[in-house]
Amino acid sequence: MKRTHQCGVFRKEHVGETVSVCGWIQRRRDHGGVIFIDLRDRSGMVQLVFDPEVAGEYFAVAEKARPEYVLSATGDVRLRPADQENPNMATGEIEIYITEVEILNPSKTPPFLIEDGVDCDEMIRLKYRYLDLRRPELQKNFALRHKLTMAVRNFLDGEDFWEIETPMLTVSTPEGARDFLVPSRVHPGSFFALPQSPQLFKQLLMVSGMERYFQITRCFRDEDLRADRQPEFTQIDMEMSFMSQDEIMGLMEKMMRKIYKDLLDIDVATPFLRLSYDEAMNRFGSDKPDLRFEMELKDVSDIVRDSGFKVFADVVKKGGCVKSINAKGCAKYSRRDFDGLVKIAGIYGAKGMAWIIVEENGVKSPIAKFFTEEEMAAILKALDAEPGDALLFIADKWFTTCNVLGNLRLEIARREGLLDDKKVSFLWVVDFPMFEYSEEEQRYVAMHHPFTMPKEEDIALLTENPEAVRAMAYDMVLNGVELGGGSIRIHDGEVQSKVFRLLNLSDEDVQEKFGWFIRAFDYGAPPHGGLAFGLDRMVMLMTGCDSIRDVIAFPKTQSATCLVTDAPGSVDDKQLRELGIDITVLEEE
Ligand code: AMO
Ligand code: AMP
Repeated sequence: MKRTHQCGVFRKEHVGETVSVCGWIQRRRDHGGVIFIDLRDRSGMVQLVFDPEVAGEYFAVAEKARPEYVLSATGDVRLRPADQENPNMATGEIEIYITEVEILNPSKTPPFLIEDGVDCDEMIRLKYRYLDLRRPELQKNFALRHKLTMAVRNFLDGEDFWEIETPMLTVSTPEGARDFLVPSRVHPGSFFALPQSPQLFKQLLMVSGMERYFQITRCFRDEDLRADRQPEFTQIDMEMSFMSQDEIMGLMEKMMRKIYKDLLDIDVATPFLRLSYDEAMNRFGSDKPDLRFEMELKDVSDIVRDSGFKVFADVVKKGGCVKSINAKGCAKYSRRDFDGLVKIAGIYGAKGMAWIIVEENGVKSPIAKFFTEEEMAAILKALDAEPGDALLFIADKWFTTCNVLGNLRLEIARREGLLDDKKVSFLWVVDFPMFEYSEEEQRYVAMHHPFTMPKEEDIALLTENPEAVRAMAYDMVLNGVELGGGSIRIHDGEVQSKVFRLLNLSDEDVQEKFGWFIRAFDYGAPPHGGLAFGLDRMVMLMTGCDSIRDVIAFPKTQSATCLVTDAPGSVDDKQLRELGIDITVLEEE
C-alpha cells in the first residue's frame, strides 16, 4: 500500500479525495456497528471510520485492531457531521471512511499510554524510551532540535565557518571534570580519554590557519548529574582567529537573534546586557543570574557593623558581609515556611538565616530586639520594605553570603510564581576571576581553563595579586541557565608560562600534560578565542522542558545508566585479557 498523505495534514480541502495513510493506532472505539480509530504518525492524528457498509470484508480487520498496532489504510475523506467536529484536533473537521485496511504489525499492550502528559514513572519511560519517543510532545522537541542544528549550521556557514571534526579517542582535556577512559588493546596499560570538549584541538586548528571553525559534537564528562547535566552531551563549539572579545560576542548575539526569530518567532533585543562577575554576584547572588524578576541583594554591612547583633557585627568585622533580599509579599509565610528557607540556606553553606517580617504597625523578627530604631529604619529603607514584605538576611564570607541569597532568591521566585516561561532574558557575564583558590588542592586553579587570556590591564597583577586577575572570559546566560561560555585564549608564550607557574605547574608537569599542545604555539599562533554552547540546554530552554533528558533521544539516568541497553555492563574475560585488564572488586568497608 502506498502512502499518499501524513495523518496530520487533512483539512476541509481534502474532502472527496481518496487517500492512503499509515501509522499507529492511538485509540479504537466500537460504537456498536461502526468502529472509529484514531491513527497517529509523526505529523498528527486523523480519525478513520469503519462502517461495515463501506469497509465490507475489511471491517473484521478493524475489529481485531488494538492500540499501537501499525496500520495502512485507504479510504475517502468526508466532512464530519456538524455535531461531531473536534476543535481540539487539527484534522477535526474531517474523517476518512475506510475501504481497505491492512495490519502491518500488531503490538503488545504498551507499558504506558502513548500520549502527552502521561503520568508514569520516568524509569519505565526511559526503559521503553522508543515508546516514550512516540509521544507528540517529545517528537516536537526533536523536530525543534533538528531545526536548531540546521539553523546553526546555516548561520555559521554564512559567516564563513568550516565544520571540522576532532578526535573522540584522545588524551585528557582541561575542562576539569573526570574523564571517561577507553583502554587501548594495542598498547596494554594505556588509555585514551574521551574529550570533555574539543578545546585543545580547536585551538590547534587556529594555529593551522582554519580561521573560523565550528563543530556540533559530543562531549563526555564523568561528573555528578543534575537536570541540566548529562555525562555525554552536545556542544555547538566554535573558535575564531583575529577577532576581539566584543566581535565574538556580537556575532553570537546575531546568531541567537536569528535562531529565536526563525524558530520561535521571538524578537530578541541586542546587544545583550553585560554584567561583570562581581556585579552579577553582588546584585543577584549568581554568576548565571535569572533576570526575569528583580529581588536584588542589598548590602547592609555598614548599617549592622556596630549594631548590638553580635552575629552580624562579628561577620562584618572579620571582613565578611551581611546582605538581604526583600521577599515581596511574603510576610504571609508561616514559621514552617521560614524554617524551610533556613534549611535551604544551610544546604548552600549558611550558618543561619535571619528574617524580618514587615507589618502595618511595625516589624516582627527574632533579631529586631538587637537593633536601634535608627538601624531598623535604615535596614527597611535599604530594602524598600513595605508592609507585607519579608526580609531575609545572611551574614558570611562574601561568596557564601551572595551564593546563599542567590539561591534563596530563586526559591522565593519559584514559590511566588515569578518565573515567567514566556520571558526570554539573555545576558553576558564577563570579567570572571582568572583563578580561584582550591582549599582541597591547596593551590590556585583556573576558573575557566589555563589557556584563557587574562585581561590586559591585569597581567601585571599575575605575580602580585592573582585573585584580583580577571579573565577575558564570557558566559551567555538565558533565564538563569548557563547556555554557553568561552574566552580569548593566550597566544603569547610568556603569559602562558606565568599562568602555569601560578597554577603550580612545573615545566615538567606542563610538558607531560600539555607539551604536545603548547609546542604548536611556537610556530606562529594567531590571536584567537571562541566559545561553546550546550545544545541540549538550548533546546531545553527553547522547548520549555524542565530537564535535558527530554531533549536527548536516549539519555542516561541520574545514576548515569542507560535503561534501554542496561549500559554500563560487564565484559567477557577474553576482552579483558586482550586489554591487559584485571578487575579487583574492593570490599566496601
Ligand atoms: P564549558 O565547560 O563551559 O566550556 O561548556 C560549555 C557549555 O556546555 C554545556 N555543558 C553541559 N551540558 C550538559 N551536560 C553537561 N554535563 C555539560 N557541561 C557543560 C553548558 C556549558 O555552558 N571548551 C570550553 C568552551 C570554550 O572555552 O570555548 C567548554 O567546554 O551549556
Ligand atoms: P542566634 O543568636 O545564633 O540564635 O541567632 C539569631 C538569629 O540569627 C537566628 O534566626 C539565626 O538563624 C540567625 N543567624 C545566625 N547566624 C546567622 C548568619 N550567619 N547569617 C544570618 N543569620 C544568622
